[in-house]
Amino acid sequence: MAGILVSLTFCHAQKTLKDAYADAFRMGCAVNSQIAAGRDGRSSDLILKQFNAVSPENDLKPEVIHPRPDTWNFRAGDQYVNYAKNNGLWALGHTLVWHNQTPSFFFNRSDGTPKSHDEMVETMHSYIDTVMKHFAGKIDAWDVVNEIIDNDGSYRKTLWTNAFDGDGDEVVRLAFKFAQESDPGAELYYNDFNAWRPEKRDGIARMVRMLQKNGIRIDGVGIQAHWGLNYPKNEYITAAIDTFASLGVKVMITELDVDVLPLTREGQIIGQTMSDPQFQLEEFKTYLDPYRDGLPDDVQAQVTTRWKELMQLFYNRRDRIDRVTIWGLHDGMSWKNDYPIPHRINYPLLYNRDRTPKPAFEALLAIPE
Ligand code: G3I
Repeated sequence: MAGILVSLTFCHAQKTLKDAYADAFRMGCAVNSQIAAGRDGRSSDLILKQFNAVSPENDLKPEVIHPRPDTWNFRAGDQYVNYAKNNGLWALGHTLVWHNQTPSFFFNRSDGTPKSHDEMVETMHSYIDTVMKHFAGKIDAWDVVNEIIDNDGSYRKTLWTNAFDGDGDEVVRLAFKFAQESDPGAELYYNDFNAWRPEKRDGIARMVRMLQKNGIRIDGVGIQAHWGLNYPKNEYITAAIDTFASLGVKVMITELDVDVLPLTREGQIIGQTMSDPQFQLEEFKTYLDPYRDGLPDDVQAQVTTRWKELMQLFYNRRDRIDRVTIWGLHDGMSWKNDYPIPHRINYPLLYNRDRTPKPAFEALLAIPE
């Protein structure tokens, strides 16, 4: 008996995430520029060992690639694709049409007045064309449009939709059409958070059907998984996977992390107001940032349970899921330490700050057995 236990433990110690899930879906990890540039060798080694797909956390966003009208900067992006391709990793491009991390000159002329419709079409076209042609053959798929649908399923009022007089369908149609023409070899995805919310899910599904009816190719939908210990309900996640799969497109779980910190008293998950000075008070800090000295065992156990139930859910639906991507490797690099409240200590990823694996990591290896 002891011998069997020893060999099981040994077996887990040897197994990797990408091998454990090889028959199910790709296992992806978001990388930052330190990792891509080789300045975080410990993280890089773990990623190469455990994952077979990567996403660029920030390096392929418009503010990095095209920060000023006369400046194109592919240095960080090239570093990312070289890291991916030199190591045989499947590489995502993230993201082309998004209202965040996109400079204002995309939308306004140099005198500050808004661009005309024709100028916006040209701006979108030249950006997509320049970027996709630069990376052609090295990026396997692009998040062409990111986060354009609202919680009620309508289009959000963003810089992009406003610039097209609120006609989100036109924004999406043009973006996917230009993307298809610029690099016919790349897969084309839509990517969004809260995609599990029934109204939003149905709004995304309508948008996908709209593209399909217009003969415009869309290859997949990414369900961003910025979730917590107790939300969202698993049945919503399952329903979203099934809804998108029924459209005949690939389904990806993207940007997975598990927030362990308390929500604000208002139950707010994502919002701006938490940078308000009142939330910087000591008495709020104790309540909102309780694990500065480490994660208590009972919370660690909840973390393991949550990762297990999520990955079990994905594994059960492996015939409909193409990739599961975690939004970073170790807790220290996560955006969740700074959002929605800056400078907290969060524990949303599979590796601790010292690059040791969490119990959740070991638990995930056991699911496919
Ligand atoms: O570029 C500046 C740098 O010059 C400065 O030294 C540094 C100081 O904090 O800030 C840098 O900018 C930061 C940028 O990441 C690059 O690291 C911003 O402050 C920071 O807000 C920004 O956060 C990124 C966020 O997108 C912004 O939209 C996160 O790292 C990134 O994880 C996050 O990723 C998004 C996905 O792309 C789309 N879905 C949601 C997801 C989470 O917000």
